[in-house]
Amino acid sequence: MARKLAVIGAGLMGSGIAQVSAQAGWDVVLRDVTDQALTRGTDGIRKSYEKFVEKGKLQAADAEAALGRITTTTDLDATAEADVVVEAVFEKLEVKQEIFATLDKIVRPEAVLASNTSAIPITKIAAATAHPERVVGAHFFSPVPMMQLCELVRGYKTSDETLATVREFAESVGKTCIVVNRDVAGFVTTRLISALVVEAAKLYESGVASAEDIDTACKLGFGHAMGPLATTDLTGVDILVHATGNIYTESQDEKFAPPELMRRMVDAGDLGRKSGQGFYTY
Ligand SMILES: NC(=O)c1ccc[n+]([C@@H]2O[C@H](COP(=O)([O-])OP(=O)(O)OC[C@H]3O[C@@H](n4cnc5c(N)ncnc54)[C@H](O)[C@@H]3O)[C@@H](O)[C@H]2O)c1
Repeated sequence: MARKLAVIGAGLMGSGIAQVSAQAGWDVVLRDVTDQALTRGTDGIRKSYEKFVEKGKLQAADAEAALGRITTTTDLDATAEADVVVEAVFEKLEVKQEIFATLDKIVRPEAVLASNTSAIPITKIAAATAHPERVVGAHFFSPVPMMQLCELVRGYKTSDETLATVREFAESVGKTCIVVNRDVAGFVTTRLISALVVEAAKLYESGVASAEDIDTACKLGFGHAMGPLATTDLTGVDILVHATGNIYTESQDEKFAPPELMRRMVDAGDLGRKSGQGFYTY
């Protein structure tokens, strides 16, 4: 019998997680707060499957079958039968805590509760439940169908069984996992990119090298697909100031302090690609 997955939140990440999971044979219940959000989510999934079919990477019949494995609901109680729940709602601690507290009462005792949070300590989310040992981080990357990595994050009380179950789930949908043993701010991935971006911005800010040359150094010297300053423009200067600022606040480690230049860029509205101007002009 197919295993059951519940995905809470049908936005960019939740719909991507539902998509790869249904394709891998999981029965998926996708939950959001409005029918519009659910329709947007499933429309996105259908279009993405169609693109894979056009490219010859997926059989049309398999896409149809995968779509048939996804049911949508606005009712959280519909997650009761899930073996694994992945939450992918807004990045707000209170919202996530409320959902986990409710899920904890609805799902079966052996079900695992995972959060796709990019940065919130899993321990804080788990503390809202009566069973923090079954709460874990499963940090997927965007776009989920394309990105290979899943960063698994232990909270203070996450059990080995929970980690093993979520790893089995992530691997079953084609991801390669890394394990973060303590839920430090920024986990491993956001910490690494933050350190690189902050140093790149400081080198640029102090006139040591041009933005192009800093990015070229990382691409040709280290084989990165994209340089840190171009990555910042793509992600959003504001997003990175926020992310590095959070890590700095929690760690008090100066190397994560957002450089003055990046803070001023945000003040001035130079947010990267989305505003037409960042480290580069678009
Ligand atoms: N966007 C990224 O690149 C990315 C990457 C990795 C992790 N994340 C994390 O994934 C999570 C979701 O991000 P996103 O980009 O998909 O956000 P999004 O805004 O695209 O989607 C969030 C969805 O959650 C729904 N929602 C809100 N409250 C809900 C509730 N109580 N029950 C069910 N659904 C609810 C919203 O209606 C919306 O559809 C965040 O924690 C984010 O930090 C995002």
